[in-house]
Amino acid sequence: MRTKLIILSTLLVFTVYLNAQKYENLALTPPMGWNSWNKFAQNVDEKMIREIADAMVATGMKDAGYEYIVIDDYWHGKRDSLGFIHPDKDRFPSGIKALADYIHSKGLKFGIYSCAGHETCGHQPGSRGYEYQDALMYAKWGVDYLKYDWCSTKYMNTKEAYPTMSKALKAAGRPIVFSLCEWGSSHPWEWAGEVGHLWRTTGDIYNCFDCVDDHGNWKAYGVLQIMEMNQKLRAFAGPGKWNDPDMLEVGNGMSTNEARAHFSLWCMMASPLIAGNDLRAMDAETISILTNKDMIAVDQDSLGIQGFRFEVKDSVETWLKPLAKNAWALMYFNRSFSPKSIVVDWKNVQITDTLTGKILNTTQKNIHLLRDLWLNKEIGNTKKPFKKTIPARDVVCLKVYRKD
Ligand code: GLA
Repeated sequence: MRTKLIILSTLLVFTVYLNAQKYENLALTPPMGWNSWNKFAQNVDEKMIREIADAMVATGMKDAGYEYIVIDDYWHGKRDSLGFIHPDKDRFPSGIKALADYIHSKGLKFGIYSCAGHETCGHQPGSRGYEYQDALMYAKWGVDYLKYDWCSTKYMNTKEAYPTMSKALKAAGRPIVFSLCEWGSSHPWEWAGEVGHLWRTTGDIYNCFDCVDDHGNWKAYGVLQIMEMNQKLRAFAGPGKWNDPDMLEVGNGMSTNEARAHFSLWCMMASPLIAGNDLRAMDAETISILTNKDMIAVDQDSLGIQGFRFEVKDSVETWLKPLAKNAWALMYFNRSFSPKSIVVDWKNVQITDTLTGKILNTTQKNIHLLRDLWLNKEIGNTKKPFKKTIPARDVVCLKVYRKD
């Protein structure tokens, strides 16, 4: 009997091991970093990437928690006679390993991009049929993060293609965060928790707050359109498995109010914070938005609960996100084109998050402290109503908490 039990449990452990595809214990909070696509598209080269890494340190982004420098599409050269991929020699003359070493020497991590199909979306060599070789090469170069796209995939199935690359990464033996980018087409939130660490939930973002850019056979979306799609999926997110509403457009030309609202929405949704602007040329406002440690702490909270929209009144949305130690983040988002005044009378606030069962109760003697997360200061407690005028398309964010 005892021997049978031992054999059974050994088999069980072995089966679990075989099914465990992705590297565990990575991305326990939403990944933070920078990606070349939004700002630079095909114009990537090693000099620019090095300068971005320098700027990530010099501007305080690294100190604020940004970690990954990810080169998106167009770094590729050709495969050699054995099928191994190499970068474009003219734009990456020192090679990818040297670039990764440089990024690591700054205390940062390095990410790269490929595609499940035979070609990337920019018609560069994709990984189809070369998954294990590519994963080996990435591991050899010192890659820490792989974004894996979904172009040229006619007749392919996401539920086969993404696990293949996930297993290849595991076999290559280097812990690499695996970012699925199939635009939500096959509902990765339902199946990719075992396969990767984050998955795009939507088509591509572009630099607009409230628009749709219709290209015929595909569409790019503004901040609000992406938020609407992503906010429905909170039940699927958590440590090591994040909904990814795409990279940030902060610093690419939106108004300061809109950029602040965009950043806050992403933090409230526990989204990966992947900057998509030119870190070498940021104005002070862009830096202060991207490095707001109070908002980043909301995004990076250890519970990893994606926040939710609680109600909408007169164009002002109230959002909540449960945080560790029974604290809450509250966001009031004015969607309209005119300023709106709000009054929050705490003695009436008793809200249950139906997903987690967590309750925010500031009624009666449940006095909580308040911190304004954009002013970065304590603003009193819930004894008195909170009054504020929110500019058009802007937010007010609070942390509501009790002393330990
Ligand atoms: C797709 C992705 C983008 C970017 C481009 C690169 O559109 O969704 O994020 O990686 O491909 O070609």
